[in-house]
Amino acid sequence: MSRKQLGILISGRGSNMEALLKAAQDTGCPYEPVLVMSNKPDAGGLDRARGFGVAAKAIDHRTFGKDREAFERAVDAELKLAGVELVALAGFMRVLTPWFVNEWAGRLVNIHPSLLPKYPGVDTHKRCLEAGDVAHGCTVHQVTAGVDEGPAIGQAEIDVRPGDTEETLAARLLKAEHLLYPRCLAAVARGDGVRVSDEVVVDGDTIRIFAPR
Ligand code: GAR
Repeated sequence: MSRKQLGILISGRGSNMEALLKAAQDTGCPYEPVLVMSNKPDAGGLDRARGFGVAAKAIDHRTFGKDREAFERAVDAELKLAGVELVALAGFMRVLTPWFVNEWAGRLVNIHPSLLPKYPGVDTHKRCLEAGDVAHGCTVHQVTAGVDEGPAIGQAEIDVRPGDTEETLAARLLKAEHLLYPRCLAAVARGDGVRVSDEVVVDGDTIRIFAPR
C-alpha cells in the first residue's frame, strides 16, 4: 500500500497533530506524516512533531507583512519539496487565501470545534454555552474558499454537562477531536467517506461519531 504523504499545518500546541502522528504509527494507516509546519516559531507542536521523528519547520507569517499569499507560497514550496500530497490543518489559525485553497483543492482538510454549519469562526465553545445547546461537537471538513464552509467529512458530538464552562467543554471536546480527525483523514487518504457511525466512551463522555447528516 502506498501511503499518502501528509503535511500538517499548526499554530500552537498541536494536540490534534499528535493524534494524527500517533495514528500513523500503525502500518495500516493510509497516510504518512512527512512534514509539520507552523506559522509561529514558538509553537509547542513543532518539538512534539520532532519527538515523533517527523520534520518540523516554522515560517513566521509576520516576516511577510500583509502579503498573505507570499507567506503561503513559501509554505506551499516547502510542502511540495517534501513530496506532500495531502494537507491537514490542525489548529492552524490563519485564514488561507483562495490561491492556496485552490492549489490544494480536494487535498486540504481542517478540524473545527463545532458542529458545522453551526458556529463557524471563533469562540465556538462560548457560543454553544450561550445558546444553551445540549450537545457540542467538532467537524472535519474539506477546505474551500469560504471560512469553515467546505463539505463535511465527519462529525463527533458530546453532551454539554450542567456546570460546563468554556474550559471544561473545550477540554472534553478535544478528546472527541483526537478520535475524529485520524478516522476522517484516513478516509480521505483512502479516497472514500467515513462509512460507519460509532459511539466511543472516553473518560465518561460518550462520543458519537457520524458521517455528515
Ligand atoms: C482545536 O480545538 C481545533 O479544533 C481548533 O484549535 C484547537 C487546536 O488545538 N481549531 C480551530 O479553531 C480552527 N478554526 P491543538 O493545537 O491542540 O490541536
